[in-house]
Formats: sequence, structure tokens, C-alpha cells
Amino acid sequence: MSDIVYLNGEFMPLEDARIPVLDRGFIFGDGVYEVIPVYSRHPFRLPEHLRRLQHSLESIRLANPLNDGEWTRLMREIVARNAGEDQYIYLQVTRGVARRDHAFPKGAKPTIFMMTSPLVTPPAEQVKQGVMAITANDFRWLRCDVKSVSLLANCLLRQQAVDAGAVEMILFRDGYLTEGSASNVFAVSKGHLLAPPKNHLVLPGITYDVVLELAQSNGIACEIREVAEAEVRQADEIWVTSSTKEVLAVTQLDGKPVGKGVPGPLFQRIHELYQEYKRSVMRQPA
Ligand code: PDD
Repeated sequence: MSDIVYLNGEFMPLEDARIPVLDRGFIFGDGVYEVIPVYSRHPFRLPEHLRRLQHSLESIRLANPLNDGEWTRLMREIVARNAGEDQYIYLQVTRGVARRDHAFPKGAKPTIFMMTSPLVTPPAEQVKQGVMAITANDFRWLRCDVKSVSLLANCLLRQQAVDAGAVEMILFRDGYLTEGSASNVFAVSKGHLLAPPKNHLVLPGITYDVVLELAQSNGIACEIREVAEAEVRQADEIWVTSSTKEVLAVTQLDGKPVGKGVPGPLFQRIHELYQEYKRSVMRQPA
């Protein structure tokens, strides 16, 4: 079965999807995107993803081309048309096709593209043993709250991690933790979960919210505040979260063990809670 994608009002096989070279997404990276996990054909936290999409679109001054009902119907349809119980939806909206000029074109129609891929959650081995991460200076722009398709800095940072055999690049700006190249980052210190606040320096992660909600409702002490680089380096546990990674423990940072060098007790707890939460969502009507 070939992948079916959605482009500007039509479903079609992936190989048939074409966009003009003057699309501003291609020329300027002028667009935004979302990644939504789908478990047992249930999109996970869809209203929250749609709210974040709205925030991204408003931030780049692009009117949302669809309402929430229309987005929801399209997502259900693309999931139904593709194979696999667990998928993830990638969607992107760009400012459309126009002669190259930095200023916004008048009357361009946004390009809407959507596809799904198999959702491959981290292998049991990574969950059990944790993963390696390295660190770098966060040299991205100052609107990291926008889920922009302009991801050059993130790609460079992620590749640096891959070149070093690491799973993620953890970023610091002016001596404070921001996030990972494609994930949010938490630290655990003396039994407290430390989370950088949601501001212009980080993507407001949907998984970040789930993890904080689960921690708070299960008696784990949480501190949402700026987290100094030294606190991360001395942390008992470090976690990375994203829609595709879910929650993973970082057990080695810049070649040094984090805590005892194995996933810690709070990670075990949150991982269990997260899996339980996922199952409860899947039991609800689709
Ligand atoms: N990225 N921070 C950055 C920079 C990210 O790219 C992502 C996710 C996150 C986590 O957000 P969420 O929990 O909503 O997935 C944080 C996605 C998965 C991607 O670009 O593929």
C-alpha cells in the first residue's frame, strides 16, 4: 500500500505530490508545522496540537486556512487511508507560492501538506538503559516557541549529536537550560523535577505538558523555573521528551554518567505513568 498524503485539498499517493519551486516554504522556510502522534488510530492530544498550530500561525501572521473541525476531519481521514495502528501525522502550512520577495505576497494561497509515517517509539533497550546526550550553546533565533519549518540550526545541532554517537543535543543559552534540538529537557535534583518555563526560548512541548501534569498529579515535586547549566550537570536524572521519543532518560551527558549512570527511580515512575496515560487515551472513543 503506497503512502497517501494530503496536498491543497486532495489526497494522493506520495509520489504524485508536487509543489512549485517558488513555494515560500522552499525558498524562505516561511511556514510552520506540527507533529501529532497517533496511537491505535487515536490522534494524541489533538486539541492541544491544534492550539499550538494556531499560535505558530498567528506568530508568523498567517491566517489559519482551516478551522479545527476541518483539521480534525482531514487528520482522521489521512490516518484511515494509511496502514498501521500507530502513526504520526506531519502537517505543514506555508505562505504559498509567489515571486521571490522577502515581504509577504498579496493574495497568495497557503500551501497545506499533510502526511503520516509509522510511529516508532524508542526501543525497549533505550528505555531500559537510557541514552547519551551532548551539549552545545543554543544559537537558534529568539522565537523558539514557534514551530517553524526553518529548522537549519536544529538540524546542525542534531547532526553534531549524531556525529558524536549521541541521541540528543541539549542546549544552554546564557548559562541556562533551554531544550534539546528536537525535544524538551527536564532535570531531577534531590527528588524535585526541574522544568524550564515555557517562553520564547523553547517549544511549548505537548509531551512536556503531559509529563508535568502526570508528575504534579502523582505527588512528584515540580519546580517550573530557569534551570542553571550547573544544575543540569549535577542532576540526579535528566529526561528528554517529545511526541516521538515520549520520555527517555539521559544517562550520559558529555561522556559523564548522569546520577548513577542508569535511568533513575523518578524516570521509572514517569515512564510507567506515561504508558498508562497513553492506554487510557486509546480506550476513549476515536
Ligand atoms: N519535535 N522542542 C523542539 C525543538 C522540538 O522539535 C520538539 C518536537 C519538542 C517536543 O515537542 P512535542 O512534545 O510537542 O513533540 C521540543 C518534533 C517531534 C519534530 O520536529 O519532529
